[in-house]
Amino acid sequence: MTLPAIRVRAVTKCYGALQALAGIDLEVAQGEFFGLLGPNGAGKTTLISALAGLVRPTSGQLEVMGHDVATDYRNARLRLGVVPQELVFDPFFTVRELLRIQSGYFGYRHNDDWIDEILHHLDLIPKADANMRTLSGGMKRRVLVAQALVHRPPVIVLDEPTAGVDVELRQGLWQFVKKLNADGHTIVLTTHYLEEAQALCGRIAMMKAGRIVALDTTSHLLSSFASRSLKVRVELGDVALELGGTAAGEWVEFGFDEPGEVEILLARLRQAGAGVLELAVGGADLERVFVEVMRRA
Ligand SMILES: Nc1ncnc2c1ncn2[C@@H]1O[C@H](COP(=O)(O)OP(=O)(O)O)[C@@H](O)[C@H]1O
Ligand SMILES: [Mg+2]
Repeated sequence: MTLPAIRVRAVTKCYGALQALAGIDLEVAQGEFFGLLGPNGAGKTTLISALAGLVRPTSGQLEVMGHDVATDYRNARLRLGVVPQELVFDPFFTVRELLRIQSGYFGYRHNDDWIDEILHHLDLIPKADANMRTLSGGMKRRVLVAQALVHRPPVIVLDEPTAGVDVELRQGLWQFVKKLNADGHTIVLTTHYLEEAQALCGRIAMMKAGRIVALDTTSHLLSSFASRSLKVRVELGDVALELGGTAAGEWVEFGFDEPGEVEILLARLRQAGAGVLELAVGGADLERVFVEVMRRA
């Protein structure tokens, strides 16, 4: 068997009484495009920080490409590129200076050809000599991505890279990340945009309160939960919720597998006097799977 890109065994992390990670076991194979999803506070960033050696786990073990993060830190870190959630920079450096410094940190002295290639793919060439403090949030986010790649790591972890990034930039970023994956890089991604995770990730782990509560291929996650949705806008939302729907803004949503179930549902709504104003039928989507997994967990 080939070496997994990431191996996490029985990892816990406590902050005082708070258990940020409550026993995580996870393997990500080389070449995967893997999604790590979960609500705020689920422990995603803590897990990523433990992989990068920035947070010491309370117990358990983590490896990157077979290198133990605790006992073989340098080799583990060399194989990992992390795009952190928070935007933290020294504002006085230019983009290129920053990337040169980061290269030096990993022992790459003459890295300008690769830096230029990264800048090109991230549309950062026009900003190469701009000071970091002059960049917009979206541009800074791209520099964070560039910074994670200077040492050509085989494993790349992106912690909410598109938070607060406009649509156009998001598309560009995903094109680039897809290319990196196609070139053989292992990608681990956390994001709040579930439609992006659905489109990009082959396999997904969902976390809640420091635990993995679902772990499967994206297609299996989608098919193992009610595969389609009926959305209704009703006069009496509470009545519809009592029939087992979940609130989605002004709408109430029901899952179903067979078309016949829709007729039954509509009949029950009518009998209960919910007063259907509008309805819409949707396909399977990860958003609904996520809501359902979190409800059951
Ligand atoms: N340095 C810290 N000190 C104390 N608590 C922390 C620290 N970092 C994270 N936490 C807590 O650990 C839990 C998990 O946080 P985090 O890993 O950031 O979750 P996520 O990235 O999924 O939103 C949260 O309850 C958070 O408040
Ligand atoms: Mg986080």
